[in-house]
Amino acid sequence: MKIVLVGYMASGKTSVGKLLAKELEHKFIDLDEYIEVQQEQSIKTIFSEKGEIYFRKVEHKMLKKVLDENDSMILSTGGGTPCYAGNMDVILKNSEHSIYLQLTVPELVERIRREKEQRPLVQKIADEELPEFIGKHLFERRQFYSQAMHIIDCNDKPLEAVVSAIKELLV
Ligand code: S3P
Repeated sequence: MKIVLVGYMASGKTSVGKLLAKELEHKFIDLDEYIEVQQEQSIKTIFSEKGEIYFRKVEHKMLKKVLDENDSMILSTGGGTPCYAGNMDVILKNSEHSIYLQLTVPELVERIRREKEQRPLVQKIADEELPEFIGKHLFERRQFYSQAMHIIDCNDKPLEAVVSAIKELLV
């Protein structure tokens, strides 16, 4: 069974994916990490040295490759993955479950404020500008995330509760 997690930056895709994979005894793949290993460079360096368009092309190729090569896994994607190059269609056609980890703008602002450094798209945005940036960005991206087969409201839910909610969807 292939399960794909989608959602905005800092929505918990990696932590949820890891714990879910552990509890279901499935293989876990983090797409960003996979790209970093394949490219032998951090996402931050790929963005700064080769630019976002190059990253999006690699991301598209790697998404198809991991979905092709694995019959069973939990895959956590990058925040932009579903929004480019027809990737949401690729996800829908090649997975049994796609899950949008949904959070409100204020909750995302809080989380991203704390961990901006490693994220090239928000790294240079001043804290006071984050609400407007994230609000607009999520408005554009939501149409892609919302195509996921399931939507989980993650606001005020600890990690374990999100994982339990996903497991309930799967039975
Ligand atoms: C991105 C999100 C990042 C990473 C890259 C671009 C985005 O992943 O793929 O920096 O476009 O939202 P996370 O969602 O894991 O931060």
